[in-house]
Amino acid sequence: MTQVTMTVNGEAVSGDVEGRTLLVEFLREGQGMTGTHVGCDTSQCGACVVHVDGKAVKACAVLALELEGAEVTTIEGMANADGSLGTIQQAFQDHHGLQCGFCTPGMVMSAAALLKDNPSPSEAEIREYLEGNICRCTGYHNIVKAIMAASGQDVSAIAAE
Ligand code: FES
Ligand code: FES
Repeated sequence: MTQVTMTVNGEAVSGDVEGRTLLVEFLREGQGMTGTHVGCDTSQCGACVVHVDGKAVKACAVLALELEGAEVTTIEGMANADGSLGTIQQAFQDHHGLQCGFCTPGMVMSAAALLKDNPSPSEAEIREYLEGNICRCTGYHNIVKAIMAASGQDVSAIAAE
């Protein structure tokens, strides 16, 4: 076992990991941060997306040991300081961007990464960016709408589904 230290949601955290320990295991099992989900074992579903040094990554596809000193943000870090939902989370709630919610942490983290690079994405750009995030419930329509709303775009003309 080797000790690794990284910053998660602004706080320094350390833990002993094996060479094969994945970031998602470090977060969920080592730190008790179970907001980051595991929906597959083939790195295809996107439920585990977090930010590492400002970039969206699949936490099931990166080793914890490689992240010594990294800055990690998880879904737990997306709420406002007072504990209320952050802008993107609130938009998902307001526009019914979730049903079972299993994919939602990854969707929110991917959306946050997209909006950082592209503050006013088109529907097509959102759909393309979310290619690596699978949702089995919503049909994506309301997720796309929620992300457009979170970016400040007027979605009043887009029908709910
Ligand atoms: S758990 Fe499915 S992509 Fe990471
Ligand atoms: S809301 Fe159920 S998988 Fe997306």
